[in-house]
Order: sequence, then C-alpha cells, then structure tokens
Amino acid sequence: MAFTKKDIEEKLDMNNIPKHIGVIMDGNGRWAEARHLPRKAGHKAGAETLEKISRYCGKLGVKALTAYAFSTENWNRPKEEVDNLMELLYNYLLQVEEKFKNENIRLCIIGDRTPFSDKMKEAMAHAEDYTKDRDGIVLNMALNYGGRAEIANAARLVAEDVKNGKINPEDIDENYLGKYMYTADVPEVDLIIRPSGEERLSNFLLWQAAYAEFWYSEINWPDFSEKDMERAIIDYQKRNRRFGKV
Ligand code: FPP
Repeated sequence: MAFTKKDIEEKLDMNNIPKHIGVIMDGNGRWAEARHLPRKAGHKAGAETLEKISRYCGKLGVKALTAYAFSTENWNRPKEEVDNLMELLYNYLLQVEEKFKNENIRLCIIGDRTPFSDKMKEAMAHAEDYTKDRDGIVLNMALNYGGRAEIANAARLVAEDVKNGKINPEDIDENYLGKYMYTADVPEVDLIIRPSGEERLSNFLLWQAAYAEFWYSEINWPDFSEKDMERAIIDYQKRNRRFGKV
C-alpha cells in the first residue's frame, strides 16, 4: 500500500516519531498453520513483512529498526525449522544487492556470530559492507541474539578493559557498559512491538528496553501492515513518557 507524505503527516506528529523501534516478529507459524501451509512459508512471509515495514519506517524518519529474527533459544527448535530459517536468512543476505540497491537502508547484524557457518558469516559481512554508506534507517537484524548474552558479552569486554588497565572498576558506569551493547551506534529504543497476542519480552533488548514503550496486538507478524505500524506510533504518541520523573 502506498502512503503519501500528506497521509502520514495528517495522522502522525512528525516531531515525535520514535527514533528506534524494536519488533518481535512473532506469529509466523500460526499464520502459516491457519492457511494449511508449512511453517517455513510463515517465516518467508514474515521476512517480506520486515522489508515492507523497514521501508515504511525509513519513510517516517525512524532512525533504527531492530528485528528479532533468530534468538539464542531458537536453536532448540526442531532441526528442520532451524535449517529452514538458516536457509531463508542466507538466501536473503545473498540477495542484498538486488533487495537493497535502491533502498536507503543500512543493514546491520547484531548477535553472536560464532556458531554460524563460514559462508553465513561471509554473507553477513558482505550485506553489511554493501549497505554501509547508506544514511537512512538502520535495520538491525538480531541473529543468535539474546539480551542476557549481550549483557554478558559487554561485561566480558569491560573486564578486558580493566585487565588491560584502560579503566578502573570504580569508573564503570551505565554509559561505559552501554557502549559495548550491539546497539551503541543508534538511539535508545523508544518503542517495542510484539504482535500475535504474546506479551513477553523473550530476552529481546533487555538493556535497551529500560524506558521503551510496549505495543501489543493480535495480528500475526506476516499480516502486520503499514497501517498497524501507524496505529502503534499513534498510540505511542499518546503515551506520557516520564523517564522516572513526575
Ligand atoms: C517467531 O514466530 C519467529 C521466529 C522464531 C523467527 C522470525 C524470523 C523471520 C520472520 C524471518 C526473518 C528472516 C529474514 C530473512 C528477514 P513463530 O514462527 O514462532 O510463530 P508461532 O509462535 O506462531 O509459531
């Protein structure tokens, strides 16, 4: 669906667009099952939704969109589903030059890459390199991502700095630790969206969610539309964010 600039500006306060949105792309399996399709069809449709929503968020002026594509816990799914997801992700990354040729989107992969195959790591690096000079929205794809693992990784890096005499333990503060989070280069997360009726954070952006607003809906992720994103932002704009103040 094409939205004109005028449509958008009439409904949204363009001075209060969330700078960074996190999405938990849930409900792909249920979307597929409801259509008597294999689960992998749901994930494929979910990947297409991510493309559409990234483009729309870029148009709105959102600076970063972080999408939970594969969690540290998702390895525990049946092997066939893990293999299908890996194949989908790999093929997606391989197509970066076609998909992102005319998009002002910078693709970044966040998460621990260690367990991925060499060819997957190469595809990740290539996709990031191909889009590195784009100055539009940053699309963070969270792969083998877990919020606790991210914080543990940051703690490990801080410990290295202490060991190397770069900092004293008493000087470590939130700001210092925050610089070692995967999202250090993008603004704070303002809004986290979870469709498909679930109301959990599921180890997503634990550190970053400290002051984020949450938005839930019953829609399964493959059905999530620009209109739903617009609704989420309209609701967000009605919230009174106090950041601990009165
Ligand atoms: C949770 O929904 C979703 C996932 C575990 C994977 C999300 C991944 C994608 C949408 C694909 C992203 C890929 C690219 C290339 C961008 P679920 O499948 O568990 O749904 P269910 O709760 O209805 O079973």
